[in-house]
Amino acid sequence: MNNNEDFYTVRGYEILGKKKKMLSHSMEDYLEMIYRNSLEKGYVRINTLAESLNVQAPSATKMVQKLTRLGLLKYEKYGIIKLTPAGEKIGRFLLERHETIEDFLKLIGVKEKLLVNVELIEHNVTEGALAKIKILNSFFKSYPEIFEKFKEYSISHIEDSS
Ligand code: FE2
Repeated sequence: MNNNEDFYTVRGYEILGKKKKMLSHSMEDYLEMIYRNSLEKGYVRINTLAESLNVQAPSATKMVQKLTRLGLLKYEKYGIIKLTPAGEKIGRFLLERHETIEDFLKLIGVKEKLLVNVELIEHNVTEGALAKIKILNSFFKSYPEIFEKFKEYSISHIEDSS
């Protein structure tokens, strides 16, 4: 079975969008982590993946098989997992989304349970809202003096927020 070629066609993006909609939160977590872990060597081992996701190897294997059937991964022998071009695109999107939300929460001063918040938001945020958050992040970075004002304002209102 090889439907990976589909992604090289002009309809590639359309198909990719559909695949993205089919992913559960947990599938998204896996793809994000596989992408993160393959940045260096271009692959990740099933054991490393299970460890970094804090799951048992058999559940990781199950999920990897699912994602392989969706055409997002290639599961090679010796427990080596590689992303297909489609999987790589979605993985990159998921990692960027994670980083955008994390940057945003840091910028607005969230320190407590930062990663828990990132995880809760990233799976539910719409692409439209994500794009707006990206703009706000880069606005704050482009205008440090306004960001400073925001921080002062934020600190002076700290009693009001819980
Ligand atoms: Fe994440």
